[in-house]
Amino acid sequence: MISWIFIFRLLQISNFFSAFSYNISTCYYKISEEFHREGDVVIGAFFPLHTFYSLKKMQHSTIPYYYLDNVIQYNFKNYQYILALQFAIEEINGNPNLLPNISLGFDFYNVRFTGKYILDITFNWLTALGERNYIPNYNCKKRNFTAALTGTSWITSAQIGTLLQLFKFPQINFGPYDLLLSDRGQYSSLYQISPKDTSLSLAIVSLMVHFRWSWIGLILPNDHKGNKILSDFREEMERNGICLAFVKMTSDTWTSYVAKFWENMDETNVTIIYGDIDSLEGIMRNIEQRLLTWNIWIMNIEHHVIDRADYFILDSFHGSLIFKHSYRENFEFTKFIQTVNPNKYPEDVYLPKLWYLFFKCSFSDTNCHVLGNCQTNASLEVFPSHIFDVAMNAESTSIYNGVYAVAHSLHEMRLQQLQMQPYENPHGMVFFPWQLNSFLKDIEVKDKRSLDWRQTIDTEYDILNIWNMPKGLGLKVKIGSFSANAPQGQQLSLSEQMIQWPAIFSEIPQSVCSESCGPGFRKVTLEGKAICCYKCTPCADNEISNETDVDKCVKCPERHYANKEKSNCFQKSVSFLAYEDPLGMAVASIALCLSALTAFVIGIFVKHRDTPIVKANNRALSYILLITLTFCFLCSLNFIGKPTTASCILQQTTFAVAFTMALGTVLAKAITVVLAFKISFPGRMVRWLMISRGPNYIIPISTLIQLIICGIWMATSPPFIDQDAHTEYGHILILCNKGSAVAFHSVLGYLCFMALGSYAMAFLSRNLPDTFNESKFLSFSMLVFFCVWVTFLPVYHSTKGKVMVAMEVFSILASSTALLVFIFGPKCYIILLRPDKNSFNHIRKKTPSRKKKFPKI
Ligand SMILES: *[C@@H]1O[C@H](CO)[C@@H](O)[C@H](O)[C@H]1NC(C)=O
Ligand SMILES: *[C@@H]1O[C@H](CO)[C@@H](O)[C@H](O)[C@H]1NC(C)=O
Ligand SMILES: *[C@@H]1O[C@H](CO)[C@@H](O)[C@H](O)[C@H]1NC(C)=O
Ligand SMILES: *[C@@H]1O[C@H](CO)[C@@H](O)[C@H](O)[C@H]1NC(C)=O
Ligand SMILES: *[C@@H]1O[C@H](CO)[C@@H](O)[C@H](O)[C@H]1NC(C)=O
Ligand SMILES: *[C@@H]1O[C@H](CO)[C@@H](O)[C@H](O)[C@H]1NC(C)=O
Repeated sequence: MISWIFIFRLLQISNFFSAFSYNISTCYYKISEEFHREGDVVIGAFFPLHTFYSLKKMQHSTIPYYYLDNVIQYNFKNYQYILALQFAIEEINGNPNLLPNISLGFDFYNVRFTGKYILDITFNWLTALGERNYIPNYNCKKRNFTAALTGTSWITSAQIGTLLQLFKFPQINFGPYDLLLSDRGQYSSLYQISPKDTSLSLAIVSLMVHFRWSWIGLILPNDHKGNKILSDFREEMERNGICLAFVKMTSDTWTSYVAKFWENMDETNVTIIYGDIDSLEGIMRNIEQRLLTWNIWIMNIEHHVIDRADYFILDSFHGSLIFKHSYRENFEFTKFIQTVNPNKYPEDVYLPKLWYLFFKCSFSDTNCHVLGNCQTNASLEVFPSHIFDVAMNAESTSIYNGVYAVAHSLHEMRLQQLQMQPYENPHGMVFFPWQLNSFLKDIEVKDKRSLDWRQTIDTEYDILNIWNMPKGLGLKVKIGSFSANAPQGQQLSLSEQMIQWPAIFSEIPQSVCSESCGPGFRKVTLEGKAICCYKCTPCADNEISNETDVDKCVKCPERHYANKEKSNCFQKSVSFLAYEDPLGMAVASIALCLSALTAFVIGIFVKHRDTPIVKANNRALSYILLITLTFCFLCSLNFIGKPTTASCILQQTTFAVAFTMALGTVLAKAITVVLAFKISFPGRMVRWLMISRGPNYIIPISTLIQLIICGIWMATSPPFIDQDAHTEYGHILILCNKGSAVAFHSVLGYLCFMALGSYAMAFLSRNLPDTFNESKFLSFSMLVFFCVWVTFLPVYHSTKGKVMVAMEVFSILASSTALLVFIFGPKCYIILLRPDKNSFNHIRKKTPSRKKKFPKI
């Protein structure tokens, strides 16, 4: 069976594994690829101890070689499988309670990947051990076969299975669990010992959710397993709002990864690689060679580093995470490995090769199995972990479990045989392999209840992190675990601070299509893109979002407002034009000052009541006007402070009445002047009017009219307290609603009408000869009054809230001030500063001829 030659390139990692020599002993090639351990009953073991290797890599080697399909090299990591087999068998053989007096043995075959050779060796095993001629259905050497252990790739198991199931020959697949192989119709006697991957997608997606990775790449084998896991991932990711940026299916022959395959690989920071070791070997090497160091690879297998080149570019996988089924660590196995050497297992053909390659031993010329001149410290435990690992890996665990499954079945069968024919064959065991099936089936069923020899559980995963620090170490460190049976929320446990990320990430990496939308924003999905790709827009007015990545903002409740960041609703505070308010304070103090000023003017007038200027201008009316002006100023205080129903009604009515009285007084004054000088009126009539003080009636009459207007207003739609929640941000404004705009404007209109009337009267008498003629001042003040209120209207209607109130108050103050200043200002000036003008002598001197025309009131 030396049908091909394995070519091996040695690693040069330390002085220990010193320079590779091409002077390989011919013994190295002569040694067979298969070997046997004797026993009463034997298990067939079929698995690969090598991997494919690129042809290009071999160009520098000078050794003669030939190859069939591809160049192949040993993968001594897989040698652990043989040791697991040895270990399990030794344990069972040494156990007096399990298969007493019956020893287990095995036949090992190194499996190639091509179907033809797999069938060749299987057939060879079944019929004519070690011979070239097969005799179907004959067991030439009369070996007591029990079962076949096959793996690691499902294809190997399937190919062997197609042959073995013809004989109903029990077969145990220790490779990754595969749905196709559990098809009882096709593989009636095939049993799978490795845990199912049912929770893998859940476990990986939990990790994505934990790190908020939502933009993920996926690399899968293009077969039934790839398609199955793809649909699992799709379902699980959809449930958790994670999107697939790309899905790449690897082709069967790994050498054909064209450049296109690697396009847009940098779209994500996290890429899941799913598959079995055999299907992923090529892609792993490609990733290494392309130095794709920015990606976090999440894998379901442990990558095997094989040669020196890999060892240096392992950096591509630094920071990667591996999900693998968790199993109890088998320390006994590690101890066992320390005892293994070529002398202990002379039948093992691989130990001499290992020793020859790594410990500089030499083969004896006569017997290839004997070695000499080895380094004294030669032992499996001195190998770096990337060449050979002393800790039992997942496949070895399955082999161990598989051997135990066979042993337990044999044991059960033996017990049954002894019960039925106790005396027939006391020390041996005669059976057909197919008889074992019923017992293996039983084991498979029992297995669900987790037999104690079984060390893996389907639903539990360990999460390993690859640390390539210091460079080249390639440590795999357990950083967490996943248990699908744990209660929701406790399934994933991680030691986050232990995780080493790829070097380009300074913090926990992100992998998102769009940055997440913070509070105050909401997601807007982009048309034609995955749901993970969106943009963020701020929430609408008065709407908030207090969490990240919300689809919808929520409206703030009534009487609440959204803060500027749109992340929280706050209760609105009540607001009005208060005395504490700067505006309110200013208005109030102006009003008070002006009324004090008016009082001061009254004082001056009272003090100088007998001077000509006071007497000349209708003293009584002046007093009335001054007092009403005081009220006008004071009524503006009604507008300040928290509005109540009373103040709302009061502010409009007092304003209206006070101003009507003031204007009425001015009108009376103006008419008096006109009457006094207009000679066109009949003298008697004038005299009567003057004596009866007719014009003074204008004051009560006009006030009465205004009172009627106000009365109608108050009766029909009186002012009321209103709330305005929109004008001022974050506040609810309390203000007086006028109740009826028409009434309010009627009041204003009436006032303006009176102002115009007064103006007209005053205008008529503006040029009458008189030292103290105040008509000019009256007309001017009325003009100003009119202007103030006419400009007030548009300004008033264009403002809102407190300013609106303040506007009205300012208009009140401004118009009253106009009256005060223009009517009384000049008089005060003369009284206080020009007393010389305010004497009867002066008047007489100035206007001797008009003396008699002084109105004497
Ligand atoms: C190869 O081995 C032969 C005999 O074992 C020895 O004579 C020869 O020097 C070796 N060549 C090298 C390159 O080591
Ligand atoms: C095993 O062999 C020993 C002696 O050869 C014998 O005494 C013992 O009964 C056997 N045990 C069983 C279970 O057959
Ligand atoms: C094994 O022994 C050799 C010398 O015999 C020495 O060079 C090497 O460093 C040793 N290796 C270890 C791992 O101790
Ligand atoms: C097969 O089993 C029988 C009974 O246990 C035993 O006598 C025989 O030696 C075994 N054959 C081989 C090749 O071990
Ligand atoms: C990948 O990581 C880099 C660096 O942390 C970051 O700038 C980039 O946005 C990430 N890409 C994605 C798709 O999340
Ligand atoms: C967001 O607001 C809702 C409703 O107002 C509240 O139930 C929730 O606890 C808030 N979430 C955060 C993170 O503040």
